[in-house]
Amino acid sequence: LRDRAGSRSAGAAGESPAGDWWRRAAVYQIYIRSFADANGDGIGDIDGIRGRLDYLRDLGADAIWITPWYPSPMADGGYDVADYRDIDPMFGSLADAEALVREAHDHGIKVLIDLVPNHTSNRHAWFREAIAAGRGSPERNRYIFRDGRGPGGDEPPNGWPSGFGGSAWERIVEPDGSPGQWYLHWFDVAQPDLNWEDEEVRAEFESILRFWFDRGVDGFRIDVASALVKDPSLPELPLEPPGGGMPDNHPYFDQEGVHDIYRSWRRLAATYTPARVLLGEIHVATAERLVRYLRPDELHGAFNFPFMRTPLEATALRTVIDATLRTHASVGASPTWVLSNHDEIRHATRFGRAYTGIRSRPGDELMPSDLALGRRRSRAAIMLVLALPGCSYLYQGEELGLPEVEDLPGHLRQDPLWEGTGHEIRGRDGCRVPLPWSGEAPPFGFGPPGSVPWLPQPADWVALTAAAEAADPGSMLALYREALRLRRTRPDFAGPTLRWLPSPPGTLLFARGRRMRCAVNFSAQAMPLPAGRSPVLESVPTEAGSLEPDALQPDAAAWFELPEE
Ligand code: BGC
Repeated sequence: LRDRAGSRSAGAAGESPAGDWWRRAAVYQIYIRSFADANGDGIGDIDGIRGRLDYLRDLGADAIWITPWYPSPMADGGYDVADYRDIDPMFGSLADAEALVREAHDHGIKVLIDLVPNHTSNRHAWFREAIAAGRGSPERNRYIFRDGRGPGGDEPPNGWPSGFGGSAWERIVEPDGSPGQWYLHWFDVAQPDLNWEDEEVRAEFESILRFWFDRGVDGFRIDVASALVKDPSLPELPLEPPGGGMPDNHPYFDQEGVHDIYRSWRRLAATYTPARVLLGEIHVATAERLVRYLRPDELHGAFNFPFMRTPLEATALRTVIDATLRTHASVGASPTWVLSNHDEIRHATRFGRAYTGIRSRPGDELMPSDLALGRRRSRAAIMLVLALPGCSYLYQGEELGLPEVEDLPGHLRQDPLWEGTGHEIRGRDGCRVPLPWSGEAPPFGFGPPGSVPWLPQPADWVALTAAAEAADPGSMLALYREALRLRRTRPDFAGPTLRWLPSPPGTLLFARGRRMRCAVNFSAQAMPLPAGRSPVLESVPTEAGSLEPDALQPDAAAWFELPEE
């Protein structure tokens, strides 16, 4: 294993040169509250991650992305940051963070952390100063404050809704006790939006980047990266185009001015050796708009949300894969592929539903899911993802096949969406339940025996612990380990392109390199496979007699090699 980690950074055959590792890395997302709890307070922490680095290396993670770990009142799971240069005591200390970065590097694993530049916590020193300093002050100009409309300024400055329900505006009480201005909070009321027209805000974030880069952090995942700049005239939102999607001229999504921020950050990241990496959470109207963020002087990568939203249907998948590859190639960027994250219903559950796209309507949560089917399709889907050229993002627990926990009692739910929407949307807690590591009963090794995880783990996760799956060659974990190993070591997976080959309706077949082939069958019929192939990996084991020898079952995938011509 040591050899493997070492050869990775040395750029052995079929591997990225060290400098552009992000072009085809497997990045494992750690939702820190729910990964591993070393001190037994029920909440995951930095020492918990330090204790699981062997697991991450053995899985085959090239990098980890850790969700926000800064001091935070946790109004939105840490995406409400009170101090960008420290660690919340519930997660550990700055010294622990530095130790984690060192130890991860010793394991051959890069460390990305989460930057939240669109908004701070309302407990951030800047926000308090903004309230105290009064109207028109430089302190208030760091945020988006406006007078209200109507008599007495009683109505919000415009009709923008918060993403978490209700209005995006909150009125403050001025220091003299009078009813005051309103501030913009696109997310929770505890997450005031920063004003990116303010030079001090820009300078502050460059200083924050340096602070962490100086501590060895390899890069940042940038939260809400396409929405930092707001049209200062704050116009009402345009109507959605017929058929849905994002309108042109949106006043805060994809404003032209946002690109300057990333050009400046890219210059800063390039001053480090090795150069630090910037990855954006970017929601924009089209793939063409997305890759404008990935021009050579901007971000290194962006999450592929259109791919994540695509149902497991061959034509739709091929269309989104082609669009991704074509648009990314046009700017020399490397594509990314992702099935799940901490904001979406876990895909083992989604794929067990008749509707297999992403959470889009509150009612989706109530649709029954056939979990056996969901896991079977998940196995096929990850083999598709890991066969594609580019970078893959894995969300903690998907390698165990964890389902969404859909029956959490309301009083334990912490996602602000739950309260913000008057319990209409259950929210994202169900994909954030602490991981099961080992043992026969909760906390399943998440924390020490007797500790109580911050969200309850289902008793039937006994079969889904990392220890149980590590002992089972047919488990989801075994499939992930083997697929990641092959993806990293087989030279045919190294190139930046794929070649589609003819295949029956409802199926996909493509070549990587000269000999490697990936077949995926989302049709209802068996898919014929060429005779004479050498099997490399199969999502459904083809034990003797269980399968026609040259056919792939429905909802399955296979990697195989063809003989040299
Ligand atoms: C993060 C969410 C968070 C939101 C506000 C996102 O896109 O992924 O978890 O609630 O930004 O910071």
